[in-house]
Amino acid sequence: MTTRIAILISGRGSNMVALADANIPNAEIAIVISDHADAPGLVSARERGLKTLAIERRGRKREEHEQEIVSVLREERIDLICLAGYMRLLSPFFVDAFGLRILNIHPSLLPSFPGLDAQRQALEHGVKVSGCTVHFVDNTLDGGPIIAQRAVRVLEGDTVETLSARILEQEHILYPEAVASVLARLHE
Ligand code: GRF
Repeated sequence: MTTRIAILISGRGSNMVALADANIPNAEIAIVISDHADAPGLVSARERGLKTLAIERRGRKREEHEQEIVSVLREERIDLICLAGYMRLLSPFFVDAFGLRILNIHPSLLPSFPGLDAQRQALEHGVKVSGCTVHFVDNTLDGGPIIAQRAVRVLEGDTVETLSARILEQEHILYPEAVASVLARLHE
């Protein structure tokens, strides 16, 4: 059985591209949804022949915006949702509608440095190792059960940009592996 995946993005979409290009066994990227119509990731998705949809969040109440996304996900018979740089917190309405079928990628070794600017937080704390985490989404901020992580050494002289770039390389390996491992468990 093929698992129908929806990827939610807000911007660049490089993790979405990594997921699409990985051709994960028994999975199909059924739709890429952005909450910004001008997200560069939508262009990359279309170039790959993926179905895309912008559900603009600007000027709308959270409930109304989320209800529209959830109804599209239902129409599309989505089994698994991958957040990939989706910059809006999901409400309990959304999270509870899909249970443990929403995944997120975060650029730190959670539970350290949840929330925004994780790479900056890591540098400011002076950690020597950071990395990235794929986790299930629950009703806490970046606090759901961890699926997989990759570590990245913090180097002398690292800036937010250099550290973020090295973490991002690892994100692109980690996310497809983590999704494949979740699917393997679903299909057991
Ligand atoms: C990534 O660093 C991801 O971990 C974080 O937001 C960034 C999104 O980058 N949640 P991209 O849009 O996938 O290129």
